[in-house]
Amino acid sequence: MEPERRFAYASAMNKTVHILPEGQEAYARALEILRGGGLVALPTETVYGLAADASNDAAVAKVYALKGRPARNPLIAHVLSPDWAQDLARITPLAQRLIDAFWPGPLTLVLPRKESGLSKTAGGWLATIAVRCPDTCWSRPFIEGGWTTSLFMPSANLSGRISPTRAAHVAADFGARVDLIIDGGPCRGGVESTVLEVHEDYAVLLRPGTIAAEDFAPFISDLRLPPKSQVLSAPGMLASHYAPRAGVRLNAETSGEGEAHLGFGAVDGELNLSREGDTVEAARNLYEYLRRLDRAEVSVIAIAPIPRTGLGQAVNDRLRRAAADRSG
Ligand code: TXA
Ligand code: MG
Repeated sequence: MEPERRFAYASAMNKTVHILPEGQEAYARALEILRGGGLVALPTETVYGLAADASNDAAVAKVYALKGRPARNPLIAHVLSPDWAQDLARITPLAQRLIDAFWPGPLTLVLPRKESGLSKTAGGWLATIAVRCPDTCWSRPFIEGGWTTSLFMPSANLSGRISPTRAAHVAADFGARVDLIIDGGPCRGGVESTVLEVHEDYAVLLRPGTIAAEDFAPFISDLRLPPKSQVLSAPGMLASHYAPRAGVRLNAETSGEGEAHLGFGAVDGELNLSREGDTVEAARNLYEYLRRLDRAEVSVIAIAPIPRTGLGQAVNDRLRRAAADRSG
């Protein structure tokens, strides 16, 4: 049986999926679980994440097992306060300017790794570490509850599948296999954080995301795209990623037999990512709409053209990966 089918089956069979609405009870329970080496799905401003205590090897290993994530795909260390990043990474002057401008927020920085107490399981073999300080409802209560370490937190979906932007999406992928899901409602961003590899005087856009590339112009005069070789070596950048079960056809002005049509702007469909042609709204709706259209009787999701400006770059990036050849 395909792993994702097996998970869906297990969650359907299971009586108790542990979901609590955001609030003090949920935060206290989450801290208890994290301290005990368990896993908690947490809302962020981008997508829901599957969190583990970053200093706990066994907990981090559970994240990889539950997602079915390749062991060589490193995780982002999430810090709850910007100043915590200094313990994990060397903060270059350019990185500091980006931190001051965008944290807490949907920006991940790949920086020179420092020796720290974090589990080596999630990328300890690399000379760099990815660090992000998310803007969330739970960061402050966690700090007030005495939490002092970072969290390794990939998106809370089965590896290779669509990222979750609702608590229900997490429940659909993992059911009761995750110890707790905190329901913070739909995510504001809708696509993952922007990932920048920061060098002394330039940066490389490893993953377009919730912050548009244009927004870095005041801070980075030299923003580069990764060379092809790097695209192939970073596992999270594999071509077939973020994929629904159905096939995906891009730049579709109309749809045919067996296809569900996802519209944008004037090209209307069964659902429309943004009638106003707003790429921010399209990013917010993208994963929810792909999940809704990914019904058993749909063989292909046909998607209207979306401009490459603003968050259109991230939306097109995810759609291109969703449409990539999955045979390899
Ligand atoms: O918005 C987000 O970033 C979400 C939320 C939950 O915070 N998290 C997320 O994590 O998208 P994940 O694991 O699904 O994606 C992390 C990406 C992967 O493509 C991974 O390969 C890359 O970051 N990455 C992690 N460490 C890296 C490093 N040292 N160098 C280059 N890429 C790295
Ligand atoms: Mg992911």
